[in-house]
Amino acid sequence: NERTFIAIKPDGVQRGLVAEIISRLERKGFKLVAIKITVPSKEFAQKHYHDLKDRPFFNGLCQFLSSGPVVAMVWEGEGVIKYGRKLIGATNPQASEPGTIRGDLAVVVGRNIIHGSDGPETAKDEINLWFKPQELVNYKSNEEKWIYGVN
Ligand code: GTP
Ligand code: MG
Repeated sequence: NERTFIAIKPDGVQRGLVAEIISRLERKGFKLVAIKITVPSKEFAQKHYHDLKDRPFFNGLCQFLSSGPVVAMVWEGEGVIKYGRKLIGATNPQASEPGTIRGDLAVVVGRNIIHGSDGPETAKDEINLWFKPQELVNYKSNEEKWIYGVN
């Protein structure tokens, strides 16, 4: 079962967009299997964004991620890694399509309200970084047979 890590950054939480964002992922048909609200430390933020450590905005980015509550989630579903990114939209909200989360709800790249894993490897690493295995919940939803057309 494919899973991805999605986080609502401090700007999304402060702007009251948690329910809106969860709602979009839920209505698509993806399944929420882990969720928590936490203020990550700067060191933790640096771990999360380690692949960007040589970029000029790295420090500001990690500072910002650790500046307030983040809603960390794991979502499950067929193609959820790639399609989750599609629902989120392009990194820079100035380039995100309308209809995407960033396109509809954000304006600048440094405050783009949401994060999503960019591939199977990062999804695995990020889920392991943010969650303990026992925090992931395995369950069946009755809607699955209607979403996937199988028993
Ligand atoms: P995430 O889902 O947050 O990882 O975004 P992404 O995968 O679409 O982009 P990327 O991993 O390349 O960058 C991570 C985050 O760094 C972005 O979401 C932005 O918040 C921030 N970022 C990326 N590029 C820039 C930039 O040019 N300037 C600034 N200020 N921030 C940037
Ligand atoms: Mg990224």
